[in-house]
Amino acid sequence: MTGYDPTAYGAAIADVYDDLYRDDAMATAAAVRCLRDLAGGGAVLELGIGTGRLALPLAAAGVRVHGVDASREMLDRLAAKPGGSDIDVTMADFSSFEVPGRFALAILAFNTIFALPDQDAQVRCFECVAAHLEPGGCFVVETFVPHPARFSEGQSVRLRTMTPERVALEVARIDPVTQFMYTTQVDLRDDGMHLYAANHRYAWPAELDLMARIAGLRLENRWQDWDQVAFSATSQFHVSLYRKPGGGAAGGF
Ligand SMILES: C[S@@+](CC[C@H](N)C(=O)[O-])C[C@H]1O[C@@H](n2cnc3c(N)ncnc32)[C@H](O)[C@@H]1O
Repeated sequence: MTGYDPTAYGAAIADVYDDLYRDDAMATAAAVRCLRDLAGGGAVLELGIGTGRLALPLAAAGVRVHGVDASREMLDRLAAKPGGSDIDVTMADFSSFEVPGRFALAILAFNTIFALPDQDAQVRCFECVAAHLEPGGCFVVETFVPHPARFSEGQSVRLRTMTPERVALEVARIDPVTQFMYTTQVDLRDDGMHLYAANHRYAWPAELDLMARIAGLRLENRWQDWDQVAFSATSQFHVSLYRKPGGGAAGGF
């Protein structure tokens, strides 16, 4: 964990986060539908709540949401939006937190499990979530499937947006030994260039499933997107649903 600062990402990106990920957030409506149904009227805990992309529409749909985030800047953005100040938040590292109450559903979306810097921190996160779930509650993790073959000599450049006014590139480098991906978003506009770093300690779905087992949770379902399309060998993303035993929920244990 040496040198890891959970506040750094939000401090650098809060002002532009919503704009930068506007296109990626196209799946937001499907995610909100899926999460609202999974919550089944119960309370939701969102780790890395950020500026409220998911939490705000969930709250507007009548779901009680409690957010955890390490970034004051991201939480300030959330609080400034309509309905944002009504959402309970705890400013903490989501690999080690304590919030009041127990939850029917916990969420860790948009690759954010990989923001934790190593396997130990990721396991601690699963354990912390399990301690905050009601019996029969579930934990939904949305993230990418690592695909090192897409990198040439450990490097990649991907065009994210191209208009006459703006070009956005994602430049990445991987270290397969530590399963670490160093990423910089390069945003080129008429008024200048901006760089945003976002690093990921990536893991394949099977490793996440083992982390869940260590925490006493079991994989119940895996989809390739929020529309619940079945996960397959070619899926680039996964939405994985882990369940805590008990509560009479059909969990397949
Ligand atoms: C990619 S954003 C996702 C925000 C939101 N969930 C969404 O889907 O748009 C990741 C968020 O996680 C927060 N974060 C990253 N590492 C964290 C950590 N270790 N503890 C708490 N928050 C963290 C960042 O501050 C940021 O708000």
